Amino acid sequence: MSVETKPVFKPNREFSKNARIKNMCEYQDLQDWATEDYEGYWGHFAKEKLTWMKPFTNVMDNQNFPFVNWFEGGKLNVAVQCIDRHLESRKNKAAIIFEGDRGDKKIITYLELYYNVNQFANLLKNDFGVKKGDRVVIYMPMIPEAAYAMLACARIGAIHSVVFGGFSAEALKDRIEDAEAKVVITADGAFRKDKPYMLKPVVDEALKGNTPVQKVLVVERNGEDVTWVAGRDYSYNELIKNQKVTCEAEEMDAEDPLFLLYTSGSTGKPKGVQHNSAGYILWAQMTMEWVFDVKENDTYWCTADVGWITGHTYIVYGPLAMGATTVMFEGVPTYPDAGRPWKMVEEYKINQFYTAPTAIRVLHKTGENEPAKYDLSSLKVLGTVGEPIDPPAWKWYYEAVGGSKCAIVDTYWQTETGGHIVSPLPGATPIKPACATLPLPGIMGEILDPETGRKVGAGESGYMCVTRPWPSMIRGVWGDKDRFVKSYFGDVKKDGKPVYFTGDGANYDADGYITITGRTDDVINVSGHRMGTAEVEAAIKKHPNVAEVAVVGKPHEIKGEGIFAYVVLKADDGIADELEEMKAINKVIQKEIGNIALCDDILFAPGLPKTRSGKIMRRILRAIAKGEAITQDISTLEDPSVVAKIEAMAKK
Ligand code: WT7
Repeated sequence: MSVETKPVFKPNREFSKNARIKNMCEYQDLQDWATEDYEGYWGHFAKEKLTWMKPFTNVMDNQNFPFVNWFEGGKLNVAVQCIDRHLESRKNKAAIIFEGDRGDKKIITYLELYYNVNQFANLLKNDFGVKKGDRVVIYMPMIPEAAYAMLACARIGAIHSVVFGGFSAEALKDRIEDAEAKVVITADGAFRKDKPYMLKPVVDEALKGNTPVQKVLVVERNGEDVTWVAGRDYSYNELIKNQKVTCEAEEMDAEDPLFLLYTSGSTGKPKGVQHNSAGYILWAQMTMEWVFDVKENDTYWCTADVGWITGHTYIVYGPLAMGATTVMFEGVPTYPDAGRPWKMVEEYKINQFYTAPTAIRVLHKTGENEPAKYDLSSLKVLGTVGEPIDPPAWKWYYEAVGGSKCAIVDTYWQTETGGHIVSPLPGATPIKPACATLPLPGIMGEILDPETGRKVGAGESGYMCVTRPWPSMIRGVWGDKDRFVKSYFGDVKKDGKPVYFTGDGANYDADGYITITGRTDDVINVSGHRMGTAEVEAAIKKHPNVAEVAVVGKPHEIKGEGIFAYVVLKADDGIADELEEMKAINKVIQKEIGNIALCDDILFAPGLPKTRSGKIMRRILRAIAKGEAITQDISTLEDPSVVAKIEAMAKK
């Protein structure tokens, strides 16, 4: 196999001089240190970076692998790490800069953040009776109160589970029930493209019938009318007025859970990925410092939503843990026009900008010349995350946005890894377009052959794995130990021992650089969001006319991957109105999951290609969706003729 060579861009010299990691020798020294003395390495940083209430006595207990304990004996509080410890030197520094959809602005200093979070924590504790270990669901728009809510939970030791605001009532209900949440924190709604949209009615719908939820806290953001259920629903704006501005931080064990975040897997049911306190916050802070190299006076902006892991680690926890200024934006990047982000970069003099390839593609397509209209000279580091970025989008980002002088950090990671695992370091790593480059120092990332567990060579593909547990590794799937072990430690073994498998395929180039090629399982990546095909199938199956369904991904110009569903209807007397039927199916998806999972294509098939044992041959369906020729032997299928029929329909 030939090894692809990509152009190489060296780090900006001036930037490197002041970077935390200045060159590849420094990178290698760190990586060697970790390789030779793994516990010494992590112990050093845990001591240096974290403010402990009680020091830890043991760095890592690996005896029950993959159940690993880090920093045993240590006590700390993540809210203290993110707020209190900065009060001495940064009390008047902006912690959060908020810009609303309509351009309204708010700056929250560290001292204000401290008071706001303490009041929020007191409200939860005293008025709602939330205790350490209780689960709190946060269903919020992108407003500072979402961050306060997360940090307030951390302060009193409650476990938060943020549910992305685009999820439907059904999806919210599932997550509330799985976590047995006692409280939901939401808002009336917020603003998008200058119009109010609503969240509270979705919560009302999700709480119908039996629910573990006792109290709902509503932040009044857009002022629209909402229904108030007496004894259950309370206004944040009212209750917060009476709260004391100090609140003692709960002393948390290093391994006490910090949050759950539900993500899609290969079955219909999303899994509650659990992250614990010390290991998570340590790596959130370290990667923030190394990968974005944020300096004391910098302003950093990540455009993600707090409903995803990127919002957790790189809007809230990472930036605040290191004492940075983090921007939160309520709106959409293309409103009022595709120059909005660049206008904000100019206005706030943003130094690090972090977004997803899908956003870059939209901004490129709809506003190619917009960046030139603004002064973007403050930018030093540009980041991307969520899916492999395509070279044309990369080039535009590098040249038009970064002025060919900024490092692009293509950060590869996932909900389960807590923070980046493979990424360039902006002052050290020579970068190549659309390439995540090398494992970060301390991360034993390797591409392994799934059959033999051998590290693959240059030009070969394999499975992206991490061969040693690291501090911010997922600690469990909520309520399902088996699923945790099977999902991540079942597929690949190295030297006979299971290792963490990400679910992604990858390859090395001649320089040992890692390129991520995408998922190897039935999970697709829609606009940088993980979507389980089984989850979408389970939703579609709820439609009474649907007999069978198979969902696959199909390349999509903006979204990266779009959702393609093959649907077999129950009535075989033909389809009266295909368009109506499609709408009806998308309506079910909207109800069960939310708009993020709507199908781009639906093909009403006469049957599905199955083996004689009844297994759906997705590979064939993927090929047909892409318009590729089928190379596989289909003679062993239960009904081989169905393939040609579907192929002909897909071409129409
Ligand atoms: C999946 C994780 C990580 C936060 C956003 C999504 C894909 C992520 C990259 C990248 C290529 C990437 C992987 C991964 N992915 N970053 N830089 N290059 N692929 O989090 O929902 O947990 O999804 O996103 O397939 O497994 P997530």
